[in-house]
Amino acid sequence: MQITYLLPTFLVLHLTALVLMAGTTLVDYLAYSSFWKFADQGSRPDALLNTMARLPRVAGIGAAVLIISGIGMMAVTHGVFGEQLWFRIKFALVLLVILNSLLIGRRQGLKLRKLLEAGELVFTTEVARIKSNIKTFHRLQLLLFSLIIFLSVFKFN
Ligand code: HEM
Repeated sequence: MQITYLLPTFLVLHLTALVLMAGTTLVDYLAYSSFWKFADQGSRPDALLNTMARLPRVAGIGAAVLIISGIGMMAVTHGVFGEQLWFRIKFALVLLVILNSLLIGRRQGLKLRKLLEAGELVFTTEVARIKSNIKTFHRLQLLLFSLIIFLSVFKFN
């Protein structure tokens, strides 16, 4: 492929992956809101839970393509963006997205699944804490995406 087409190709992949990852995060947030409403009424929405179980994988694919296409753009441009302020801040925010996902989102999701596998979901202080942590995870993730998009489009230097 000609070099002139390489950067736009990576950019198309980058933006597609962004839609996939940020979109999945929003859907996950909405799905959790519905889940907690069902749980409040003492019912267990198995169909919803099955769909929710697939979302982290979709977001993971989005994250992988986002990072690979980002590295691809850096390679094509010989790392020129790496010297710019917007990119350095963006990179720190990308690391926060990854940390938030691994340390909060994934862990809290697994904790909740374990509790659900053990039986009915009873509203203990532990469950209340998981609920609050998952809400914080989603809100922080969406805020970080917005900041990253803002920086990437305006490219302040
Ligand atoms: C959550 C993660 C990320 C999001 C939401 C994101 C989002 C975006 C957006 C919206 C653009 C603007 C495209 C445009 O207006 O032309 C962009 C550009 C760019 N991104 Fe990312 N990005 C992410 C991760 C990364 C990573 C990990 C890298 C590098 C390792 C990277 C490298 C780049 C580069 C070099 C550009 C500039 C391309 C150009 O203008 O030619 N991005 N990104």
